[in-house]
Amino acid sequence: MKRSVIKGTGRFIPSRCVTNDDLSKMMDTNDEWIQQRTGIKTRYWIPEGEIVGSSDLALEASKIALDNAGWQPEDIDLIIFATLSPDIFFPGSGCLLQTKLGLSDTPALDIRQQCTGFIYAMSTADAYIRSGMYNRILVVGAEVHSTGLDKTTAGRDVAVLFGDGAAAACVEAVETDANIGVLGSVLKADGKFAEKLMLELPGSKYPERINAEMLASGGQFPSMDGTRIFKLALRKLPEVTLEVLEQAGMSLDDIDMIIPHQANLRINEAYQKTLKIPEEKIFNNIQKYGNTTAATIPLALDETIEQGLVDPKKSTVLFVALGAGLTWAAMIHRFGE
Ligand code: UT7
Repeated sequence: MKRSVIKGTGRFIPSRCVTNDDLSKMMDTNDEWIQQRTGIKTRYWIPEGEIVGSSDLALEASKIALDNAGWQPEDIDLIIFATLSPDIFFPGSGCLLQTKLGLSDTPALDIRQQCTGFIYAMSTADAYIRSGMYNRILVVGAEVHSTGLDKTTAGRDVAVLFGDGAAAACVEAVETDANIGVLGSVLKADGKFAEKLMLELPGSKYPERINAEMLASGGQFPSMDGTRIFKLALRKLPEVTLEVLEQAGMSLDDIDMIIPHQANLRINEAYQKTLKIPEEKIFNNIQKYGNTTAATIPLALDETIEQGLVDPKKSTVLFVALGAGLTWAAMIHRFGE
């Protein structure tokens, strides 16, 4: 039976560290508010004034992941690129990454699932692998948020949350009877909450996708009903965790590490409390990176491996996320050979 196993991961964080104090020079905010409400101390943004897209960050992360997996770019059968901040409106960043990897006919697709992007992308990779269509899939989550935030006081509720970054995972088909690889996957969406977290402009539904009058409305910046999303997360993250455990016939005791999306440390602490998860079984790094959306989970996975908290030969990890769409999702993955 073909199983989808992560064989290597990699991450790339741009060099410009932005502290909460740095933000307080741009807008009416302060370190105390940001840390208390979100847990964030720093985030990293691409260098000011430079042209750096999500595919550029993804390239660096992918090179490390390929190296760790022992793959050459030519080994990749498919690229799945999860992002809400593609380099340009179209074509997708997957195609841009493909050529930067020196490839010329490898298929590439983008996944537009925001905070759950990595889990949706992994689930798509798993389906391709199980079907026998592809054997080696590069799954990437990458975001450049910093060029699209309203860095004035009007945008402070969103601008302080987001960081730039990328991380990648090499997912390989392993023919085995062992219970390894993707063991469970639950994907959910409810479009009636779409307007609670969105980036409206440019919008192809409008006679003009964007014009000066529309720009004055601020619709080119992300907007969020933070309280509503927060409450939805408190309920749905534990629910979807229990559902994926049930699907896999497992309990929390079978999981070595939970890697939740990094949107707000308070959300993850409440989630941990609800499910009575011991401190050593859940990983957070939002303090350093802020919310890097589709990159948060692979970024955290890569760090847990580096820190020896996850064994890339045998650990069982659970990913869980909720965000724009509304989408929410969970996945269980067991490393193995
Ligand atoms: O990854 C995608 C999924 N996203 C999420 O899961 C995010 C979910 N939501 C949240 O994380 C939280 O709702 C936020 C961190 C966004 C906001 O925290 P909150 O505790 O819900 O604060 P709030 O929006 O209720 O705002 C409280 C106060 C307001 O002032 P008043 O009306 O009480 O006077 C805001 O204007 O805090 C003010 N405020 C700020 N003050 C300083 C909002 N943003 C800031 C800021 N600095 N950056």
